[in-house]
Amino acid sequence: MLELRSVCKTWQPRRGEKRQLLREVNLRVQPGQTAAILGPSGSGKSTLLKIVAGLEPLDSGAVCLDGQDITGLPPEQRHFALMFQDFALFPHLNVQDNVAFGLVEQRIGKAEARAQAQDMLQRFGLQAFARSRVWQLSGGEQQRVALARALITRPRVLLLDEPFSALDAQLRVQLREEFRSHIAASQMAVLWVTHDEAEARAMGAVGLRMAQGALQPVW
Ligand SMILES: Nc1ncnc2c1ncn2[C@@H]1O[C@H](COP(=O)(O)OP(=O)(O)O)[C@@H](O)[C@H]1O
Ligand SMILES: [Mg+2]
Repeated sequence: MLELRSVCKTWQPRRGEKRQLLREVNLRVQPGQTAAILGPSGSGKSTLLKIVAGLEPLDSGAVCLDGQDITGLPPEQRHFALMFQDFALFPHLNVQDNVAFGLVEQRIGKAEARAQAQDMLQRFGLQAFARSRVWQLSGGEQQRVALARALITRPRVLLLDEPFSALDAQLRVQLREEFRSHIAASQMAVLWVTHDEAEARAMGAVGLRMAQGALQPVW
């Protein structure tokens, strides 16, 4: 289980000035569960995901996984997967190598990584694009590649920050179903940040709204 305990975060717009962005964030997400996080722009949703990923320090509180405090653990040792809206694919690699990247990073042999990437591409209906450059793909296809890349390392936690915000409305609705089935097949705790309430309801068994630096339950 992923757990946030009283996470607080302030930042300094100017020297001597302090703004409280996250006042007291508490959250529990079970493996296999998706929590959708809504909230206006600037409310701290992305900052919260970065804190969970270990990319941004917190002022106080803790991030725990299965009861273990991992607040001090660097991002690469958390083995969490991130899919940020601006977390671009690698333009110099083809689709297959983009998907295999996380495995290569874990020092899994190239041949094995490629084989697993092939399986993943098959699951995602992307096998025809294996040798294409990512910039030759449509926006929706790129998001599929990004999810395949995120899932290949079998992360225990998946963090998505407005993953569909660059796509048109029709494609967003279509991808919801696809993403939901891929995510359901793995036992991850998922945090899905979006400002689209319909998307949040479709994806999140639990829905929360970031307001005044805390997460309020919505459903
Ligand atoms: N280290 C920082 N430096 C400057 N501004 C920051 C910093 N951390 C957070 N902020 C500000 O905090 C607010 C929250 O940002 P963010 O987490 O991106 O919100 P959201 O994802 O909900 O739109 C923004 O207004 C941003 O400018
Ligand atoms: Mg954001």
